[in-house]
Amino acid sequence: MNTLPQEGLSRDAIDTALDELRAEDLPVDDGRAWGYVYDAGPEVAAVQKLALTKFMSLNGLDPTVFPSLEKLENEVVGWCLAHLHAPEQAVGTFTSGGTESCMLAVKAARDWARDRRPETTAPQMILPTTAHAAFHKGASYFGVEVVPVSVDPDTFQANLDEVRAKINDQTILIVGSAAGYAHGVVDPIEELGRIAEEHALPLHVDGCIGGFLLNLFEELGEDVPPFDFRVPGVTSISMDLHKYAFAPKGSSVLLVRDPELRRAQYFACASWSGYSVVNATMQSTKSGGPLAGAWAVMRFLGKEGYLRLAKDILAATKQLLEEIPKIEGLRVLGKPNMGLIAIASDAIDVFQLCDELGERGWFVVPQLTFGNSPRNMHLAVEAANAHKVPAFLEDLRACVRLCRERPAEPPPAPVLQMAGSLTPEALRSSYAELMKMVGAEGGLPKRRGPINHIIDALPTETKEELLKQFLGELFQ
Ligand SMILES: Cc1ncc(COP(=O)(O)O)c(C=O)c1O
Repeated sequence: MNTLPQEGLSRDAIDTALDELRAEDLPVDDGRAWGYVYDAGPEVAAVQKLALTKFMSLNGLDPTVFPSLEKLENEVVGWCLAHLHAPEQAVGTFTSGGTESCMLAVKAARDWARDRRPETTAPQMILPTTAHAAFHKGASYFGVEVVPVSVDPDTFQANLDEVRAKINDQTILIVGSAAGYAHGVVDPIEELGRIAEEHALPLHVDGCIGGFLLNLFEELGEDVPPFDFRVPGVTSISMDLHKYAFAPKGSSVLLVRDPELRRAQYFACASWSGYSVVNATMQSTKSGGPLAGAWAVMRFLGKEGYLRLAKDILAATKQLLEEIPKIEGLRVLGKPNMGLIAIASDAIDVFQLCDELGERGWFVVPQLTFGNSPRNMHLAVEAANAHKVPAFLEDLRACVRLCRERPAEPPPAPVLQMAGSLTPEALRSSYAELMKMVGAEGGLPKRRGPINHIIDALPTETKEELLKQFLGELFQ
């Protein structure tokens, strides 16, 4: 058992220990990460740090005790509403991230329906297969059934006929993405808005990753498909600030056209012997740090600063979208509306490609096969990596050549076949064996191509079981 040491350490020793701990971490400031990191440079990082430390001990549990938090939230939410062209009466909430914003949208829609349509006893949500996992999490936490809707195999946009056909008297919510994380594609939000209005249903637009950037692209003269509150029928929008607004991690907003819908998101409790609780979000006690950090970065950069960053991201995206299809064997899935690029191949192994780029110090994210989206390599263009596009393209070309000339050995066909029929129960009992078989018994190897192939072959529920087992092993 690992017990807390009796004696404390000095501040300097703590500083050193924390630095040592980070030795194996992905660098967050070198522009070589094409996922997980949103870095607007050292000045913005310094502003984040300043605000985070100043406000870290303030408690968002009760804004009457810390009125600064109320002012900051009203200001940040106000800026976001204006950015998404919300009408005068619209309101919003600052949350801890995209997942929380999306989950709260599900909770609000469920309770809104419960209040107005008591016949909704088995609530359902219409969800394109490209919608973020956060909605499945919301569905699972709040007892809502996911009704999946396929996407077009070429455009990766939600299939509207299917949306229409799947609405019934238990439907409480329709979801569209602007843009979807996997392919960077905006769903047909105007049409979804019309369908939502016809059926008097809420339509949530997930703008977690795209909401902020897309409207900056529009201001730069790009042709951006309509997705925000200008579209009739859109009732709520989630938008992360810790992505393309370059705020510290832990910042997002959920914006709502009608204050009554936000009321359904709230939770209040006076049914216990302690202080009265009223929460807009999942957390109760929460640090004021991320909110102050978001406010500070937004105020520091201003519209001008954001347009400057967006211009770089746009130029980098255009260059990648022009050059990648010229590399023999690579193709971009769909027509991304922003710098989220899924690269697939019928000629080389994209999981090997991720490994080869990893060997050259690039962090890229492999995406598994799902629905009609084939396995691919995902890039998220942001402010720091936008400046590395020429170097990245050079390495990408070299790595594709290498994958052609020296293709990695794929896992044996019987192993893939076995994986394809493995049930979650069978996986639970054979987990250790499986990890040994894929060479991951002592932790994940650096090159994960072969493992990714095996995971890709597993049925979806077995994949989910594997992920849970794996997490449990990591945190003992
Ligand atoms: C479209 C979309 N929605 C929701 C989320 C979830 O956001 P978070 O990771 O901040 O919880 C993401 C994350 O990438 C996203 O891209």
